[in-house]
Amino acid sequence: MLKIITNFKLFILLFLMILGAPVNAEFDESTMAKKIDQLLSKMTLEEKALLTSGRDAWSTQPIERLDIPSIWMADGPHGLRRAPTTYTWGYGNQAPATCFPTASALSASWDMDLLKQVGEALGVESNALGVDLLLGPGINIKRSPLAGRNFEYFSEDPILSGKLGAAYINGVQSQGVGATAKHYVANNVETQRMWANSNLDDRTLNEIYMTPFEIAVKEGQPWSVMACYNRVQGIYGTESLQLLTDKLKNEWGFKGFVVSDWDAVVDRVQGIRAGMHLEMPGKPARITNKMVVEAVKNNELEEQQLDTIVKDLLRIVFMGQNTDDKHGDQNIEQHHQLARKIAAETITLLKNTEKLLPVDPAKYKKIAVLGEFAVNPRYQGNGSSQVKPTQLDKFIDIVRNEYGQSVEFIYSPGYSLANDDDLSLVEQAAAVATHADLALVMAGLPLSYESEGIDRTHIDLPPSHNALISAVAKAQPNTAIILTNGSAIAMPWESQVSAILETWLGGQAGAGAIADAVFGKVNPSGKLAETFPVRLEDTPAYLNFPGEDGQVIYGERMFVGYRYYDKRNIEPLFPFGHGLSYTDFGYSNLKLSASDITDNDQLQVSLTVTNTGKVKGKEVIQLYIADKQSTVQRPIKELKAFDKIELESGESKDVSFTLTKRDFSYYSKVYDRWIAESGAFDILIGASSRDIRLQAGLNLSSTENLQYKMTEFSFFSEYWSNPQLKPLLIAFMPKWIKAMTPKGKPIEEAKIEDFLQQQPLIKFPYFTGGEVDEQKIKAFVKQINQLTFNP
Ligand code: BGC
Repeated sequence: MLKIITNFKLFILLFLMILGAPVNAEFDESTMAKKIDQLLSKMTLEEKALLTSGRDAWSTQPIERLDIPSIWMADGPHGLRRAPTTYTWGYGNQAPATCFPTASALSASWDMDLLKQVGEALGVESNALGVDLLLGPGINIKRSPLAGRNFEYFSEDPILSGKLGAAYINGVQSQGVGATAKHYVANNVETQRMWANSNLDDRTLNEIYMTPFEIAVKEGQPWSVMACYNRVQGIYGTESLQLLTDKLKNEWGFKGFVVSDWDAVVDRVQGIRAGMHLEMPGKPARITNKMVVEAVKNNELEEQQLDTIVKDLLRIVFMGQNTDDKHGDQNIEQHHQLARKIAAETITLLKNTEKLLPVDPAKYKKIAVLGEFAVNPRYQGNGSSQVKPTQLDKFIDIVRNEYGQSVEFIYSPGYSLANDDDLSLVEQAAAVATHADLALVMAGLPLSYESEGIDRTHIDLPPSHNALISAVAKAQPNTAIILTNGSAIAMPWESQVSAILETWLGGQAGAGAIADAVFGKVNPSGKLAETFPVRLEDTPAYLNFPGEDGQVIYGERMFVGYRYYDKRNIEPLFPFGHGLSYTDFGYSNLKLSASDITDNDQLQVSLTVTNTGKVKGKEVIQLYIADKQSTVQRPIKELKAFDKIELESGESKDVSFTLTKRDFSYYSKVYDRWIAESGAFDILIGASSRDIRLQAGLNLSSTENLQYKMTEFSFFSEYWSNPQLKPLLIAFMPKWIKAMTPKGKPIEEAKIEDFLQQQPLIKFPYFTGGEVDEQKIKAFVKQINQLTFNP
């Protein structure tokens, strides 16, 4: 009997795992809700305040008297930084863990299955190290290439960031460990990060910066969301009712808890009112606990608000205790191999004009390996995300061991990582290149260039790296550049070389992945998740980064990344979505399920992709939408869907996408909602944002009935250019409009000068010489606002 029960439990567990549910078979929501209600009724006010602040650096406060356990949190995101104890910081003495490629590498894979695998592996390691909640992924938007934490974030595009974030979260949480979507929201600059105000308009906030979080919550339901350090529209991210309750909880259905970024809390009482559940870390919270208690006693904070926070938090605390796999195997060997496989999927071939890559060992017997990165790899970024790797591969060792049978590899450092400006090693490296058949130059950004807490001030490589590349390119025509960096860089030498391989910050096994890509064991399939500009001056936030006096003005609005380069018609160095392969792909057969749709319909898009080259490869198919007719400013095109497929040489596969209203919509501040306007749209299928292969048009009709929201300050032109309102305006001020009508023409063809059209209606008592007055205008506006229209 016992065996049957155990088998049944196993079956349920397997079933839940297949569904992607956390491995916490006994977690029953309604039983849990009852248990939590009972606990709450027994808790004192002081205990509630205590629970909603951390115990120490990494854990929540247990309450032994009530059997309330504690959960252990750890960074995050591309590996675990688990401190020796919950009350030590764990910088340098953290437990060894697999260091996977960082987010800017992972995103170049454009592969949601891969992100899920990374998440699963992180979940396994979390369990093994006793961690209940992982502090990742970071899903903020890369607004400027200068932002210090870009290596920790996925993309400049909200859909790509959100989808990859959700996949990672689902992977982690499939292991019964929680994930944390961070840093909510508009956390895009490190300079003055605990005060900087992200000063942006609602449309931009919703369309660009909130969307990744919305997708992550709706498609991943993370156990936790981390509130940012910065202010957003003047209010701290830890104190914003609109962000934490209205959007996150009420609109998107977030069920987890909001944790403050470490030391982000300024006013904890306001935080609780707004919907922040947990202040971290614990130490300053000892003071703020008293404030919370006082606030309730003084009726400045309703105890019920505190209760709601406590309940949400307890639900996750008990979930964290409910994993069957705690303290399982960390799978160190297996995860090292996985880290190599994953890194290989992220490598992005930027240029290969002479088809130098993959390197043919039969042709090139003597290969110069130049650059200190070959022996001293750069594999992750600086700051709280720093993992202590379980092992660390070096490129020179890997190529000699695995590819050295018929090839001689000669190493020369080319530069010193200890001194960026020291050019003394360049000449010798160039000489080595001259006497070899081919040169591989390993260059990029040293660790100190990319760090949490500090922004970059330029996008250049160290002078010694640039000098090395130029010198070697002159000395050896067969030169391939292998780049290691976590964010976009300038490449003044781009035209001097024929092959550039971007390998990002590839984690502890990245060197093996690079070798596999260089020698063709792996066919590169990465695509840029961020634009590489020619120069810093070309970038969207150039004039408004990092901001000053605590204000960061998001003047480029929603024109971030490729949206900006498209609109300004600026040629980037390498565009968003770009990445080559050792094979070629043909795109054909684009079909839309309809050419006329309403905003309630789903649109099916399908196409065929064929591998027209000689080797197996993977392609990322990108779907962009262009709104051809809009009453508001819109980007030229926006990514809405993508897929990655693998094809044998000569093989074809069909790819399909489903689009819905949201994909055609913009965010209206006036209506505080997403609106898909009637009109013409194009569906663009690209191999990159600047390599559109297929295109088809459709017409969308809105079924919505929106009520006008005019005021006395709405402009004359808003009525005059609107066919529904124009006759009403004519009826409202007939004399004046008549006077503006050329002889013999109907009044509808009145010639109203532009400068008059651009006046708010409230100015018309003056222009019409008293035909209308303020009262009449207000009544007219009221009458208009009773009417509805189809957007
Ligand atoms: C970082 C977070 C991190 C936390 C804990 C903060 O400084 O912004 O990303 O999770 O520290 O280390």
